[in-house]
Amino acid sequence: MFCYSLSHLTSPFSIKPSQKDSTLQKIKEPSPPSWQPRSWRDKKAEQIPDYQDQNALKRVSETITQLPPLVFGREAELLRERLAQTAQGKGFLLQGGDCAESFKDQTANYIRDTFKVLMQMAVVLTFAGGVPVIKVGRMAGQYAKPRSQPYEVVNQEKIASYKGDNINSMDPKNREPDPERMLQGYHTASASLNLLRAFAEGGLADLSLVHRWMLDFVHESPERTQFEDIAERISDAMTFMNACGLSPSEAFTLRRTEFFTSHEALLLPFEEAMTRRDSLSHQWFNCSAHMVWIGDRTRDPDGAHVEFCRGIANPIGIKCGPSLKPDDLISLLDILDPHHTPGRIVLIIRMGHDKIAAHLPDLIRTLQQQGRAKEVVWSCDPMHGNTVKTENQYKTRHFLDIMSEIEQFFHINGDMDNHAGGIHLELTGQDVTECSGGAQKIDELSLGARYHTVCDPRLNAQQSLEIAFRLAAYIRQQERRQVSS
Ligand code: PEP
Ligand code: CO
Repeated sequence: MFCYSLSHLTSPFSIKPSQKDSTLQKIKEPSPPSWQPRSWRDKKAEQIPDYQDQNALKRVSETITQLPPLVFGREAELLRERLAQTAQGKGFLLQGGDCAESFKDQTANYIRDTFKVLMQMAVVLTFAGGVPVIKVGRMAGQYAKPRSQPYEVVNQEKIASYKGDNINSMDPKNREPDPERMLQGYHTASASLNLLRAFAEGGLADLSLVHRWMLDFVHESPERTQFEDIAERISDAMTFMNACGLSPSEAFTLRRTEFFTSHEALLLPFEEAMTRRDSLSHQWFNCSAHMVWIGDRTRDPDGAHVEFCRGIANPIGIKCGPSLKPDDLISLLDILDPHHTPGRIVLIIRMGHDKIAAHLPDLIRTLQQQGRAKEVVWSCDPMHGNTVKTENQYKTRHFLDIMSEIEQFFHINGDMDNHAGGIHLELTGQDVTECSGGAQKIDELSLGARYHTVCDPRLNAQQSLEIAFRLAAYIRQQERRQVSS
């Protein structure tokens, strides 16, 4: 097992939480007694491929079961503790990365660029919110996708949809699900995670470096005047810290960060094979990532995905689309979080900019009435409810729709005295043209210039930072309003 001293995992961007805080007490609920990693097989499983070669599936599953875990249980437990604080308003969750990672893109530069964007966003958001930012990548394992349509038409031919590199190939001639791909998924995740740990531990988390990249972004942005104020204030804070002897060269904690990984727990044969019992706590952990989430299409309380997630002790995300009724949410929480464990559940709200105002307040109100609203993290995914198709057939998301959903999310939470605890974005460190708008003014006609996603459209590096700066400005403006009222 990868040996990793948790005491070294301190966040350079955050005030270290008091160890006396009650949410940090270890909460070790046993996994449900009759549950096994394979229990989901007795339930209806949506979105999982029907593998033709069942012997190959069995062989691959057995091989993966014998491979070392990618993360270990206590790391996932640490994330849950961080999320428990966030649920109480003492943190903010930044979760982001590709819609679908492709194996061939997992190069050092590619991973580095996504990591860099998340680090810069974290600095801006830490400054704005004044609370620790928990960084969780949709990285090192986001290889399996649910699809609304099982088929698509390519070159006038109807073929099976691409379901992520862990399941089948992007190549239209080779869409048959192949269990061997899971092995490649394991090894690719392992290599990516190794590099992410190196970046977080020493190389790329140095606060002075991150600060310099952030300034470069501001100088190069066509909208720099809007961002200069916040950037200058962050620079002042850095100067002050340096003057106090807290420079990254002297303060160990400013050179490293905590970084966690996550993906959708969609391909249950893979997730099952990666699930191990912790030798100390005897809880089951899915050791393929620190956190996993249940998609909007697979959150049936009686379905296989909910059954699988109920038994693992990792933090669990639940995608909450506009069709989720408050009663269904309560049923899901009763199954997935029967002991009301703080930080176990992240509600990832993905309604769409035109629906969030009609649906989110009911969910918040219901959980407040049940006394559960401060046990969960409320996070905003402004991507999945805002996908549109252009006339030239590109799937895109408009920057202003994304920003509008985020602002409404903060506004609604503020009005209802609920903590807006995070954002969940599809982004890349590359200069792609997939989401329209933003300071670069990407229009529908220029989407084709660098449209590289293998699944949904992602924010590019500039657009992602722009979101962070705009959100920071919004949070500070709200605070000023509260002070003056
Ligand atoms: C996703 O996060 O890529 C996704 C498919 O989300 P949702 O389940 O919310 O549609
Ligand atoms: Co997506």
